[in-house]
Amino acid sequence: MNSPPPMILLNPGPVTLSARVREAMLRPDLCHREPEFATLQSSLRARLLDVYALDPLAWAAVLMTGSGTAAVEAMISSLVPRGATLLVAENGVYGERIRTMAERHGIAVETARADWQGTIDLAGVRTALAANRAITHVAAVHHETTTGRLNDLAPLAALCCEFGVALLLDTVSSFGAEMLDFAHWPIAACAATANKCLHGVPGTSFVITRRAALAASDARRSLYLDLSAYLANQDGGGTPFTQSVQTFYALDEALAEFFDEGGWTARQATYRARQAVIRDTLAGLGVEPLLDATASSCVLQAFRLPAGLTYPALHDGLKAHGFVIYAGQGKLAAGIFRISAMGAITDGDLARLQAALVAEIGR
Ligand SMILES: Cc1ncc(COP(=O)(O)O)c(C=O)c1O
Repeated sequence: MNSPPPMILLNPGPVTLSARVREAMLRPDLCHREPEFATLQSSLRARLLDVYALDPLAWAAVLMTGSGTAAVEAMISSLVPRGATLLVAENGVYGERIRTMAERHGIAVETARADWQGTIDLAGVRTALAANRAITHVAAVHHETTTGRLNDLAPLAALCCEFGVALLLDTVSSFGAEMLDFAHWPIAACAATANKCLHGVPGTSFVITRRAALAASDARRSLYLDLSAYLANQDGGGTPFTQSVQTFYALDEALAEFFDEGGWTARQATYRARQAVIRDTLAGLGVEPLLDATASSCVLQAFRLPAGLTYPALHDGLKAHGFVIYAGQGKLAAGIFRISAMGAITDGDLARLQAALVAEIGR
């Protein structure tokens, strides 16, 4: 009897693993204080910079054990200097989370808040920057996974340049598949994770920081999430705490696969092609996207639930066909569902997904 096909994850991470990434976790046991670990860690750090061809003299990749939120919190708590104010340009759950992080760390924080379905409130950002010269950093989410919107960072970056402030970016669901202009945007740091567009496993996250920006910050608000401590240790081949060795192995193989496949532009093209198939199939079934395709990331799209179909019914129906989709969050929970295009998905999987969507929605 044939075994059923594996479950395909269409949630926004963790992703469906390729065989080579899964098998990498079976490499030999390794102590994080041994030279072999230092070699592995240094190689990962160098190749994370290679994703966007960053100069290692100016930039550093700092690896940590934790999910993407750990990396974002390490970035926020370590890079906003004492006495400074952080401005958060928020238009979704993850922007709101950054504001909460700042509040918990006692960082003075202002917000330019936009509707979840709207774009970043540039006028609000300008007003705040003009009114409060204590603002040193603007934080924003690149791909706001709440709605699938790829925030247009170029005008925000231009505003930051005009006012001489730096950007802190949550690129958790875009790093490795969307354009990031490190050369022209005043990026102090961005935070990301192994288990989304890079196709590794959950457990390793990282911050890409401008070395000078981290050196200029006197903030040591957290013991475990202290980026400066990680950087100093990792530059010396060490680590302040035990790292998740097996997830490092997985990221090692995922990065090899990523570069074999052509890097971030190739990944973006792959995701775009998958999303077009999903969007067209759903359009044929009368299902509307939440956002225009041009506003959505290549990584994930949100769709309005058709009348008469609840999210649990659609989720459970598709799961029975071998596909896991994702619910909306907060106030969007009852009205939308989300489908991601990340991971080791084959053309055959995509064809089966189309058939499953027709079976569950078209009936
Ligand atoms: C934009 C963004 N930021 C942060 C996170 C949090 O990541 P994690 O769940 O890995 O902590 C996510 C998770 O989906 C995300 O999409």
